[in-house]
Amino acid sequence: MGIQQPMPPVHQDFLWMRRCLEIARIPGSSVSPNPLVGALIVQNHKIIGQGAHLRWGSAHAEIHALQQWRSNRLSHNSAANGEGMPTLYISLEPCNHQGKTPPCTEAIIDAGIQSVVFGCNDPHPLVSGAGINRLLQAGIMVRGPVLEKECRWMNRRFETACRRNRPYVILKWAMSADGFLDNGEPGPGPRISGPLASLITHQLRREQAAIMVGAQTLIKDDPDLRAWRLGDPHPRVVIASDGRSMDGPYRAFARIPEPLVLFWPQPCRAEDLVKAWCDTLMEQRLNSLLVEGGRKTLDIFLNSGIWDEIHIFQNQELNLHHGTPAPYPPCDPIREEKVGKDTYRIYLKGFFDVHE
Ligand SMILES: NC(=O)c1ccc[n+]([C@@H]2O[C@H](COP(=O)([O-])OP(=O)(O)OC[C@H]3O[C@@H](n4cnc5c(N)ncnc54)[C@H](OP(=O)(O)O)[C@@H]3O)[C@@H](O)[C@H]2O)c1
Repeated sequence: MGIQQPMPPVHQDFLWMRRCLEIARIPGSSVSPNPLVGALIVQNHKIIGQGAHLRWGSAHAEIHALQQWRSNRLSHNSAANGEGMPTLYISLEPCNHQGKTPPCTEAIIDAGIQSVVFGCNDPHPLVSGAGINRLLQAGIMVRGPVLEKECRWMNRRFETACRRNRPYVILKWAMSADGFLDNGEPGPGPRISGPLASLITHQLRREQAAIMVGAQTLIKDDPDLRAWRLGDPHPRVVIASDGRSMDGPYRAFARIPEPLVLFWPQPCRAEDLVKAWCDTLMEQRLNSLLVEGGRKTLDIFLNSGIWDEIHIFQNQELNLHHGTPAPYPPCDPIREEKVGKDTYRIYLKGFFDVHE
């Protein structure tokens, strides 16, 4: 018998996979370093079970969906009503190995599911395809991939960690209309971007496992660095420091767990240093990093070439006239839009170019 392959998707698969993507995103970085995953069980065009992977080490999305389906079935006795066969939709190929939880493929087979639609393969080269093969071998009808790019993009942090063994790195800064990061005066810098930019920043913080600032920003601005406008989860604080003592009751040091301090020797080669920092972050299971300044910290990442996205807010109504000049992004933005008084620009390294 030849190797079985999944079938191509049908029209309604795209609709249900979009819903899987929506529910997958809810937990933000709580699942990190695991991937974001959403699952649905659909029968007769109705959702009869749904679930997301909510926290690292906890039950996977499809297990939550199967549990909900089971309890719905017990309360409505739907099988006895002669309804059509349920289909499981899942944004990421089910796992086929014993990790922190048992293999999901076995739970799907044991539950009697006979039709599965998946979004994309597991990006880990050693496990990719194994879950789909197990389902096919068990005689389950499998369709997919469906919305593959969207599903992979949602898990770009997980995929970067699996394939490149480093965290996904986002650089972010706010600048005045005349191109300054601060006004060059002692004490905390002026607020540059508006409330909408702040909300977007907090969403970015909610999605990354870690947030980094340089020691000078910590000392001068005492930044909060939580995603407090949106609530849990908050990223782990990382400070880049040359080893001088950082005395002071900084807000970041009141957080639990307390900040991870990464050593920044002077002089250093940017690429070697950022690679070493990335290794430490991976050891700590921190597979995504938001770098929020200041200038020297942003420069070290830009000079190393190790970054994936850049997000810039430029307040078009504020001129500071002097201060620390903002860095120049090394490419053109892929998106530009107005958010309140700010112009918001996003730059992308090319996730799919690198991973294809
Ligand atoms: N607009 C924005 O988005 C934004 C965001 C963040 C920060 N900022 C502004 O950026 C400015 C800070 O940027 P920056 O480039 O000067 O520095 P930074 O990138 O925040 O911090 C790195 C620098 O801190 C110094 N440093 C390292 N370890 C230290 C330690 N243990 N104790 C004291 N100093 C240490 C070193 O500089 P030296 O060797 O020269 O001391 C190092 O190069 C602040 O004015 C802040 O307001 C703006």
